[in-house]
Amino acid sequence: MPSRPLAALRTLGVAIVLVTAAAGCDHTVAGGRADGAAVFAEACARCHGPGGKPEESMRAQLGVRDLTAAEFRARASIDLVRNQVRQGSANKIMPAFVGALNDAQIDAVAAYVLTLSDAAATTP
Ligand code: HEC
Repeated sequence: MPSRPLAALRTLGVAIVLVTAAAGCDHTVAGGRADGAAVFAEACARCHGPGGKPEESMRAQLGVRDLTAAEFRARASIDLVRNQVRQGSANKIMPAFVGALNDAQIDAVAAYVLTLSDAAATTP
């Protein structure tokens, strides 16, 4: 009898690990707040760099995009970023964030990504 609750706990533990692994994080991003900068820092910066400019190794090895690049700025829109965050990348290296981020957070981080572009555009 005493082993049963333990077994149930173990199963629950495995389930939690699987769910969080699928979401690509081990806690609620930015405490669930729709704070674009905080969401970016927690969910995106590890690949894209704190300011949207990835480290060279990330670019070379994983093909991570520079979110401050002129090429990206020229075609970036709130819908493009929102869709990318929802669906992840076609090559599956960037995870889909549906489930890990709520709708308000996806909107907030998309808007934040566009401000990264603006900031880069105004620097000479
Ligand atoms: C595990 C690494 C990783 C994480 C985390 C990640 N990305 Fe990406 N991201 C990538 C890669 C790799 C690509 C390029 C994918 C491709 O070539 O299809 C990409 C592409 C993009 C693009 C498309 C750029 C373009 O040129 O069209 C946007 C926008 C983007 N990411 C935003 C985000 C945001 C916002 C977050 C956080 C919510 C995020 N990414 C988290 C790896 C990551």
